[in-house]
Amino acid sequence: MTQDELKQRVAAAAIHYVMQAPAGSVIGVGSGSTANLFIDELAKVRHHIKGAVASSVNTARRLEGHGIKVFDLNDVNEAIPVYVDGADEINARMHMIKGGGGALTREKIVAGASAKFICICDESKLVATLGKFPLPVEVIPMARELVARKLAKLGGVPKLRVGFTTDNGNIVLDVAGMAIEDPPALEASINQIPGVVTVGLFARQPADVLLLGTAQGVKTLTA
Ligand code: 5RP
Repeated sequence: MTQDELKQRVAAAAIHYVMQAPAGSVIGVGSGSTANLFIDELAKVRHHIKGAVASSVNTARRLEGHGIKVFDLNDVNEAIPVYVDGADEINARMHMIKGGGGALTREKIVAGASAKFICICDESKLVATLGKFPLPVEVIPMARELVARKLAKLGGVPKLRVGFTTDNGNIVLDVAGMAIEDPPALEASINQIPGVVTVGLFARQPADVLLLGTAQGVKTLTA
């Protein structure tokens, strides 16, 4: 089975969690190729929801293209029951590296506003130790060199994502060479560096459920 087929299956499986949400809810929707497939599945049940909060401009466009109403998070007063998104890496404790698509800040905000995080991945994303995938860090442009030096002191090799600006007008440093043994601690340390907007470690608020696409079918994992 191809990686795209595995992504398709987990995208479809995530609809179960949308249908578990009260009818007329606003849900949270992530970004990336797996999230895009989820949006296409969501279109089939769009009458069950009032709309969605999007974690990127691209996601908002795709949702709207399917006739799904997109809400600004500031206009949503009720609880968001569920957030569905992919990941670049995830471990058995449901800690994730995200931000390969550069949407990490809005992803962390919408995930933080949601009661439940459903992570949808093909099996290549499940790892024993996070860090083979370079860790994305969104940074205020004027702090680029300062943040890069501090990240190097933490043992990483930061590299500017050339020609890329986030939806928030910032840059991304991709940090290679980190075997992340304690993801919540590293997330807290990087959050303390002045100029860091968001680190793409999602460990202090991990996923609640991982839907993992495997050759044997979709597996449902929890921490
Ligand atoms: C975007 C993300 C994505 O969830 C992550 O990059 C996974 O993407 P894909 O589903 O295309 O493999 O964090 O910022």
